[in-house]
Amino acid sequence: MPVTDTPLRYPGGKSQLTPVVVDILTRNGMLYGEYAEPFAGGAGIAMTLLLNNYVSGIYLNDIDPAIYAFWHSVLHQPDALSARIQQVEVTIEEWHRQRKVFLDPDCTDILDKGFATLFLNRTNRSGILRGGVIGGLQQTGNYKIGCRFNKADLTRKVRRIADYQDQITLTCMDAAKFVKKVFPKSSSNTLVNLDPPYFGKGPELYTNFYKAADHAKLADAVSLLKRRWIVTYDDTPEIRQLYDAHPTYSSSLNYSAQIKRVGVELLVADRRLKLPPSFASMEITRTSRVMVRQPAAMRIAA
Ligand SMILES: C[S@@+](CC[C@H](N)C(=O)[O-])C[C@H]1O[C@@H](n2cnc3c(N)ncnc32)[C@H](O)[C@@H]1O
Repeated sequence: MPVTDTPLRYPGGKSQLTPVVVDILTRNGMLYGEYAEPFAGGAGIAMTLLLNNYVSGIYLNDIDPAIYAFWHSVLHQPDALSARIQQVEVTIEEWHRQRKVFLDPDCTDILDKGFATLFLNRTNRSGILRGGVIGGLQQTGNYKIGCRFNKADLTRKVRRIADYQDQITLTCMDAAKFVKKVFPKSSSNTLVNLDPPYFGKGPELYTNFYKAADHAKLADAVSLLKRRWIVTYDDTPEIRQLYDAHPTYSSSLNYSAQIKRVGVELLVADRRLKLPPSFASMEITRTSRVMVRQPAAMRIAA
């Protein structure tokens, strides 16, 4: 399991793409600028960039109020959140309690919601918030409920991120609105990395997901962005077509020897960005846009 700077595990998380993003920032004179994830989720790349001072500030947006509550708790109540992490007993009884809090539409306490989100993310299979618990309700599996809940590690990550609180802008809105409304206020030297829910998968992975029309609306909003951007997606004919005016790369080829598997299927890039030379061999030409290989099965870790 790769070491990440985020406390969240995320189905389809893109942390392994961090070296590619660092390369793009470097090539384009964007180091120490700002960086935005309109579909933040676990925000693995954003955290590594900020905590290692590749960028001076990050924008995190996610429409899911549970994800927002988690990040809000990290930034504004790190001590209380850390205390809960330390004190909680990671048991099936507690899992039922936290699940109830998570699903309760009347729960207005942001720390309660934020902690329940973290608890389920760390104790459910693949981090899927509405999924089943690791090891099963009877705990008969090989892995048990607590195997991904390392209290010391989680607390350390929460406190480290909280130290950067004044360099993080957190919002909870629709990504297309976010890029139109919040974004114009960012520095002109900002890279936007959009990682929308997969076109082909979604309902089973995330609480919120996109319909075909939403993907199209997003593609329109991205085309109008004044800041430079990249988008990662699963490889489907619909997505190839939506972005056919922009350079598109298939990541089935390795970016470098160190990265065995980039983990995304398509990367669409703003024409204004200089990309690593190795991308040339991954470019999808106009004629090949209609030919799509079968989507690879999603790799989901326990
Ligand atoms: C593919 S995941 C992002 C994963 C993230 N890049 C990572 O590495 O952890 C997609 C995220 O988009 C969020 N989302 C879904 N629909 C959205 C919308 N309309 N606006 C903003 N966020 C949305 C989901 O809640 C989910 O967290």
